Amino acid sequence: MSLIKLHDKEFEPFIDKNRIAKYVKYLAEVIADDLDKDEQPIFIGILNGSFIFAADFVREYPYDCHISFVKLASYEGTNSSGKVKQLVGINEDLEGKTVVILEDIIDSGNTLSEIYKIFQNQNVKSLKIATLFFKPDVFTKALPIDYIGKSIEDKFIVGYGLDYDGLGRNLPDIYQLKA
Ligand code: IMP
Ligand code: MG
Repeated sequence: MSLIKLHDKEFEPFIDKNRIAKYVKYLAEVIADDLDKDEQPIFIGILNGSFIFAADFVREYPYDCHISFVKLASYEGTNSSGKVKQLVGINEDLEGKTVVILEDIIDSGNTLSEIYKIFQNQNVKSLKIATLFFKPDVFTKALPIDYIGKSIEDKFIVGYGLDYDGLGRNLPDIYQLKA
């Protein structure tokens, strides 16, 4: 891994793909332990950022499960705008189901609180949140985050599904904005 440039900014190596795989496997094991073996949870990936995480996660999940996706576009550039603009919905009936949200990263928590509002109204059996990365220093909400892969400092990262203005999602490793 070496320094990369996306648009106008430079990013340096931060977390390589082998370590990412360990965080994903760890989350799958902890969640599998926590839920009943026959629970058949619905994992819901938040697009676009979590498409790679969700794909790897479900392949590490050892029991029967469902996977679906919703899209809430709220992010532009390197700062969270604080506005959730769009939802591409979910068609499944979630009533009585165990729902586990899969987020790539939780920053301010704005996206998460929108998602909470939507799923709380659906009479789910239980609603859990799993995120691969978490920035505790900027999280402003009083919402429970049940499963965290790795807490990181408040610096912008790209790769493994995460983008900077549309670029970087395809990088297998994670890079951090260079100071
Ligand atoms: P929040 O609403 O501020 O918690 O931001 C959540 C969403 O913003 C995440 O699902 C990501 O898509 C995006 N995001 C937050 N932090 C970063 C980052 O460091 N790099 C890339 N995208 C990020
Ligand atoms: Mg996202």
